[in-house]
Amino acid sequence: MNLMNLIVIGASFWGFSSDAVVLPHNPVNAAVGDAVRFTTSLEPTQTPFASIQWKFGNKTIISTPSNTSSPEYLGRITLYFSTGSLELTNLTLEDNGEYNVTITTAEGALLNGSTTLNIWEDVSNALVTSSAQQLPEEETSLNLTCNASGSIHTREWMKNGFPLNSSANITFYHEKQVLSFRGVTREDSGRYTCRISNPLSHQEAIYSMIVIYGPENVQISGQNEVLLKTKLKLSCSAKSLPASSYVWEKNGTIVARSFEFTKDNSELSDSGEYICQATNDISLKTSEESHRVLVTAPKDQLSAGAIAGIIIACLVVVVGAVVGGFFIYKCQ
Ligand SMILES: *[C@@H]1O[C@H](CO)[C@@H](O)[C@H](O)[C@H]1NC(C)=O
Ligand SMILES: *[C@@H]1O[C@H](CO)[C@@H](O)[C@H](O)[C@H]1NC(C)=O
Repeated sequence: MNLMNLIVIGASFWGFSSDAVVLPHNPVNAAVGDAVRFTTSLEPTQTPFASIQWKFGNKTIISTPSNTSSPEYLGRITLYFSTGSLELTNLTLEDNGEYNVTITTAEGALLNGSTTLNIWEDVSNALVTSSAQQLPEEETSLNLTCNASGSIHTREWMKNGFPLNSSANITFYHEKQVLSFRGVTREDSGRYTCRISNPLSHQEAIYSMIVIYGPENVQISGQNEVLLKTKLKLSCSAKSLPASSYVWEKNGTIVARSFEFTKDNSELSDSGEYICQATNDISLKTSEESHRVLVTAPKDQLSAGAIAGIIIACLVVVVGAVVGGFFIYKCQ
């Protein structure tokens, strides 16, 4: 005979009804369709209990010794007579609530117990939606809303895998169903995850936020001076999201549609002003920058006409030297 029984017998001896706790205090979590067993803390008895009564609200689940039961529990319950424990199968959301058991021992002591059953429906169809589709940087507010089917207990938000907390720019509403930005900036771009959970299941929904900006800070790198017949290569960059597309122009004519302009054998006519225009293909905003290029001939590679002139001048010097009776040999 254990201490509990001694106390119970003692209580009944003095005519009190005992408040002995025969069920755990913690709520029991179960999913729709599952089975649950409410296990009492009682040792199996040799002498059967005088009566066991399980109730859910006002409804009698099972009552002994008459074995009466509400119709909705037919085929769903198993009563363990020796401990007073009860198993309930085919759980539905309607089974959510408080359960009470009253046991009268063979000795006439009353034992009571109550526990709470929380039924959870699996989280499914989790989804994050945005109050705006295309997001330019702006001062107006933006909401991300996180919803799912099933039993929602908690929502948590993460950005790029790190927990997201409220800040000067971020406020949460309706138990974190809504993540509200005061105004979006390019720093708010990223992968937002909403994790919806209940004690038995969870699901995540992801929203990739792209805050559109640019093009800004268009820069051209490449030669300012290039030797005739060598390679001319200019490249253009800009800060932009999504990445810019680029067009190169010279004298009002498009010469390339790429971030790079190249010419393998530059000609003298390639000298001039090159303009790179960057375009954000979503906002259609543009920005441009210009760059001067000079194609030069090398100093020892003179034109054919200039070379002929030098030879003629040389002959004149030689002839003059013979006539004048003296000799100048230096002629190249
Ligand atoms: C309980 O669910 C099982 C399937 O999981 C089914 O075969 C049985 O008929 C159900 N019983 C009741 C009483 O609904
Ligand atoms: C964002 O949600 C909050 C709270 O529900 C609401 O007051 C506000 O008007 C919403 N803003 C937008 C832009 O939808």
